Amino acid sequence: MRKESLPSIIAPQQRARWKNDRDGIWTLDGAFLDAIPTRSILTTLWDQPRWLEAYHLYDQRGSELFEQICELPEYYLTRTENSILEAEAATIIAAAPVECIVELGAGYSKKTIHLLTEQLRQRHKGIFAPIDVSRSGLLASRDALKRDFPRLEFHGLHARYEEGFTSIDQAVPTLFVFLGSTIGNFNHSELPRFFKNFSQAMGPDDYLLLGADRLKDVAVLEKAYDDSQGLTAQFILNVFIHINRLLDSNFNTEKMRYHAQFNSEWQQIEMYAVAAETHEVHFPNVETSFNWKRDERILVEISRKFDSLRLQEQLRFFDLTPVDHFTDPDEWFSVLLFKKQC
Ligand code: AVI
Repeated sequence: MRKESLPSIIAPQQRARWKNDRDGIWTLDGAFLDAIPTRSILTTLWDQPRWLEAYHLYDQRGSELFEQICELPEYYLTRTENSILEAEAATIIAAAPVECIVELGAGYSKKTIHLLTEQLRQRHKGIFAPIDVSRSGLLASRDALKRDFPRLEFHGLHARYEEGFTSIDQAVPTLFVFLGSTIGNFNHSELPRFFKNFSQAMGPDDYLLLGADRLKDVAVLEKAYDDSQGLTAQFILNVFIHINRLLDSNFNTEKMRYHAQFNSEWQQIEMYAVAAETHEVHFPNVETSFNWKRDERILVEISRKFDSLRLQEQLRFFDLTPVDHFTDPDEWFSVLLFKKQC
């Protein structure tokens, strides 16, 4: 394989940490991606109540299931956000004069194509660096973009968000793109921690484009997370198959069921795995187990819904100044553009 030189967008002090994985894909040197999940899974499973961090959902099967969820008629988020981006990409790119677009959790980068098209149309060149824990998502994104955008410089960063964005050189004017309302999957302590670290990592000429799902009719929300084909249930319960693979545990998806509900006080959809019968779950690698009692719930994922004006106000406290706000005719989804305030 031809040896690639490290992309110029990686900050000088971070360069020693990255190594070439495959053509156009970069990964952190060492076992960063593997060492963290075990501790994260065990600490949250032993919490009261038990819960999991959302990023464990995205093994290869989880990423495929999520792609299928995005096509569901009930799951309005993807197509609504896509329609906003399609309509507003030219305005967004004109308002954010950058050299590089870094996408957090890109998956297959389908919606970002509108921004990349505009970046190349308005500036005739551009760098695209998606950050994702899913290697298969990065490879799919690379292959599609290399074919359709030969003038685009592509660097896939195989890492968790934070490891990825803290590695980007602050001297390169960058538009960070965080779509799909993924911020909704952060809980109330993760969200401020994320924005504090994220804002600190941004350079003086950087922008953030943020997709946020809005509060709306509860029936619409609950249907979006409990679809008639049962894909969301499969997606949520698949996390236990992934955990079994990682930790050699014996979660049995036959002995659990899926339950989703909107918590109006916390303004979030909550997605649970519920024990259908009491059973023992073993973790032989760490010689421990727990008794999962019938009807006891494990909170696998939350999806918070936002008041976009309040979100804009909140992010001001992280030195992110609102530049523009785009929405759809029903005002179901917001795409918010911010500039880093130095
Ligand atoms: C990725 N994330 C924004 C999705 C959401 O809507 O919260 C994940 C998801 N979980 C179930 N359906 C979709």
